[in-house]
Amino acid sequence: MKKPVLIFSVILFLVNIYFLKGQQFVANYDESKVPSYRLPDPLKFENGGTVRNKKGWDRRREEIFKIFENEVYGVAPGWKGEIIASELSSDENALNGKAVRKEINLTLKNGNRELTMTMLLYMPKNSAGSPVFLGYNFYGNHTITSEPGIAVTKSWIRNNKDYGVFENRASEAGRGLSSGYWPVEMIVSEGYGVATIYYGDADPDYDDGFHNGVHGLYDQERDGTSWGTIAGWAWGLSRAMDYLVTLPSVDPGRVIVMGHSRLGKTALWAGAMDERFALVISNNSGCGGAALSKRAFGETVGSINRSFPHWFCGNFRKYNEKEELLPVDQHQLIALIAPRPVYVASAEEDQWADPRGEFLSCAGASPVYKLLTGETFPADDMPPLNSPVMSRIGYHIRTGGHAVTLYDWQQYLRFADMHLQKKERATF
Ligand code: GCU
Repeated sequence: MKKPVLIFSVILFLVNIYFLKGQQFVANYDESKVPSYRLPDPLKFENGGTVRNKKGWDRRREEIFKIFENEVYGVAPGWKGEIIASELSSDENALNGKAVRKEINLTLKNGNRELTMTMLLYMPKNSAGSPVFLGYNFYGNHTITSEPGIAVTKSWIRNNKDYGVFENRASEAGRGLSSGYWPVEMIVSEGYGVATIYYGDADPDYDDGFHNGVHGLYDQERDGTSWGTIAGWAWGLSRAMDYLVTLPSVDPGRVIVMGHSRLGKTALWAGAMDERFALVISNNSGCGGAALSKRAFGETVGSINRSFPHWFCGNFRKYNEKEELLPVDQHQLIALIAPRPVYVASAEEDQWADPRGEFLSCAGASPVYKLLTGETFPADDMPPLNSPVMSRIGYHIRTGGHAVTLYDWQQYLRFADMHLQKKERATF
C-alpha cells in the first residue's frame, strides 16, 4: 500500500472508531430504538427450575440478592460495632407545637475507627410508636425546614452557590431551601415521623478510593465485588434503623425508607438488604434504581459508571454498553422487597431516568408479589399522568421534572396509610 493511502486508511479507521463510540455514548430517547431484550425470570432458579412457593422464593431471593451484591452494588460488610447516640438538641414544641424535634449524633465505632452521622428527627407530639419516614437529604439537615435551631452541617458538601455552599462548606444561606422536598409539617400532621441525615455524613459523594465515609470504618482489600457508595449509603440507613428501633416514640415495625434520585437507588437497595424496612419508596431513581437497565433508555450502565465511578462495584463496569449480559435486571430488585409494599414514582420530563423502564420494573416484579401475597400490580400499561396505581406495588408518573414534589408526598402518605395505618384515604 502506498504511504498516503495507508495514512488515509488509518485516519479513516480512527475517525470511524471515534464516531461509533460517540454514538454509543449518546443517550437514546427513542422508544423504537430500545434494543430487544429478555428479562431474567424472577421465579426461575439459575438452574432453570421453577419457584413454586414461599420456601422456593426464599432460596431464589438469596440467589438474586447475591447477584446484585456481586455484580451491581457490591458486598457490604456485616456490622458488629457499637453505635453511640448523643442528643445535640431537643425542642418539645417544634413546628408550632405539633412536633418534638431532636438532633442526634450517631457515632459508629468499629474498633478504633469511627464515623458520626447527625440525624434530625421530627416525631408527632406525644408519639408512642408512630411510623417514620427515613431518608437522606442532599444538602444538610438545616435545609429541610426553616426552623432556626437546626445545626448547619460541618461535613464536606459539593459546592453549590444556590445553597450557599462554598469551599465545600455549608452555610446559613441554605437553611430551609430543601423544604419543598420535605413537607415535614404535613407529614407530622398525618401521624408520621421524619428522620433524615445528610447523605455525605455516611459517605461523601466523590471518588476517593473508598477511604472516607462508611468504607473507612473497615480495613479492606478491595476487588470487583467490594461495596460501592450506594451500598455504603444503604448500609448507613441500616445503622440509622438500628438507632430508630430503640426509641419508644417510633414503631420499629413501621419504618419507611424513602429516597430521591441517587438516594432513591439507595432506598431500594437498603430495602433489599434490610428486611426491617416495612415499606420502600423510590422517587425518580432511574438507572441502577427502579429503571430496567436492559432497555438502555436515557441513562445507561456505561454512562452512569463513567460519570459516577464510585457508586457501584467494579464488576458492574463489565456491563458498560453490554446490558444484554447482565444476569439480573432492576425488576428483580423490586422483587427483593416483596412482600413488603414498594412505591415507584416517575416524572414525565425526567426521561433520563426512563419512566417506562421504572414502570416495567414494577410490572416485572408483580409475579413475585402474586406468589407471596396473591396480589398483582394493577396495571398492564403505563397509567395516564397523575393517575397513581396502588396495590402492594404503587406507581405514578406525574407531570413535571426530576424532583420530589408535594404531589409525590401526598401519594406516599396515601400508600403508607393503606399499608401501615390501615386507613383508607380517597385522595388529597
Ligand atoms: C445524575 C445521575 C442520576 C442520578 C441523579 C441524581 O443525573 O445521572 O443517575 O439519579 O444524578 O441523583 O440527582
